[in-house]
Amino acid sequence: MSSPHDVDTPVVIASNRGPVSYRRHDGELTAVRGGGGLVSGLAPLLDSGRATWIATALSDDDRAAAAASLPAEDGLPVHLLDIPVDEFEAFYDVVANSYLWFVHHGLFDSTHTPSFTDEWHDAWGAYRRVNAAFAHAVCEHAPADSVVLVQDYHLTLLAPIVAAERGDLRLVHFHHTPFAGPDGLRILEPAARSELLRGLAAHHACGFHIPTWGHNFTHSQQRWGPPDSTKVFASSLSSDLDDLRRVAASAECDAALAALDERVGDRVVVARVDRMELSKNVVRGFHAYDHLLEHHPDLRGRVVFVAHCYPSRLGVPAYRAYHDEVMAAVERVNERWGTDDWQPVLMSDDDDFAASVATFRRYDVLLVNPVRDGLNLVAKEGPAVNERDGQLVLSTEAGVHAELEGAADSIHPFDIVATSRAIAAAIGRSEGERRARAEALRRDATARTPADWLADQLAAAAD
Ligand code: F6P
Repeated sequence: MSSPHDVDTPVVIASNRGPVSYRRHDGELTAVRGGGGLVSGLAPLLDSGRATWIATALSDDDRAAAAASLPAEDGLPVHLLDIPVDEFEAFYDVVANSYLWFVHHGLFDSTHTPSFTDEWHDAWGAYRRVNAAFAHAVCEHAPADSVVLVQDYHLTLLAPIVAAERGDLRLVHFHHTPFAGPDGLRILEPAARSELLRGLAAHHACGFHIPTWGHNFTHSQQRWGPPDSTKVFASSLSSDLDDLRRVAASAECDAALAALDERVGDRVVVARVDRMELSKNVVRGFHAYDHLLEHHPDLRGRVVFVAHCYPSRLGVPAYRAYHDEVMAAVERVNERWGTDDWQPVLMSDDDDFAASVATFRRYDVLLVNPVRDGLNLVAKEGPAVNERDGQLVLSTEAGVHAELEGAADSIHPFDIVATSRAIAAAIGRSEGERRARAEALRRDATARTPADWLADQLAAAAD
């Protein structure tokens, strides 16, 4: 068997969201390379020509491409699984995003949620079947002696099926979310919990962005998992900095920055860039800003909160409700403090990456306050391209906090007063202090590359 370190060892990636999606132009289906950390982190493999990628067809155009077995851009070997729409919704919207995501991010309140209803039990069957479909695709397409990199909480059950059929493959799982320790995982329906932990234990190794999530996993395994557990490793992802700097230097980004400058003038900019996501804690962020304006009358008219919160997972009812809650929170702040010539919050829900990067370049304070986050790439991307010695107010519950602690202003994400005070302190800092912190942030946020993360996964397969 070849070693996974060998540059010619074949690699198979299995993930729900693939590296390309298809769009129809004038009746023709063409592949478009996708964004997001996972794709940019694994891009070096794609470009090396040694990887096969198995993912789900996520749109009608993807399904049409899957049915026609279309090759992806540049002949990239991508196999899109055509899962029936109902089955996919049960797998993705219900099990993955309404239960597992909530368990790992601690979003259930336990008074009213969760309830394991017939819908859950049916959906768990769909989750199993989709995982089995991935497993069969891996067995079918993996060259002999491949390393299989299984990505994220959508695909926790495929390893035992693959291991039984293809003893020549080495499976490594990487979990991009936090992992719940026993206190959080106790909430999950017991049979599913055991199945999930058995599924993860069937990998050669399981990786997480930070050691804390790995410890949680180990403790949950010790409590409910099989006796022989798997190796655990930690490796944090980074954005593709070349790509980010290319966007920052683009004419599109310059135009977005000019438009932003026109709206905010020389005011202090507090900013956030997030998916519209419950774990991102967007509403408390606006409560903190409201508190700031209440307690710092001198900042009224002098500061603007620029928020990019673009839609996400709209098939999940809780996400749709959260969108409305966020918009109501923005409206309250604007109504309470706004004047004829000053709008305290500028909110955009367009998924416009160039405009988000323009905001990264311009902010004075970036707020990243998730209630819990596997890593959080925004906290690395902002400091990497910011042009104003911007400060970072960062939740202690974000995985990335382990890398940026000291340079960032740390806050407990539930503490609105502390968040408001941290923003005020960041604004009030002397120029010299701002520069020193911004430099430290830039250094720490750019210390790792996607290639480091990929190398760690391949190393975990080797030993
Ligand atoms: O954080 C976990 C994760 O799956 C990331 O890998 C991804 O960027 C994000 O959630 C968005 O997920 P989705 O594919 O549901 O849009």
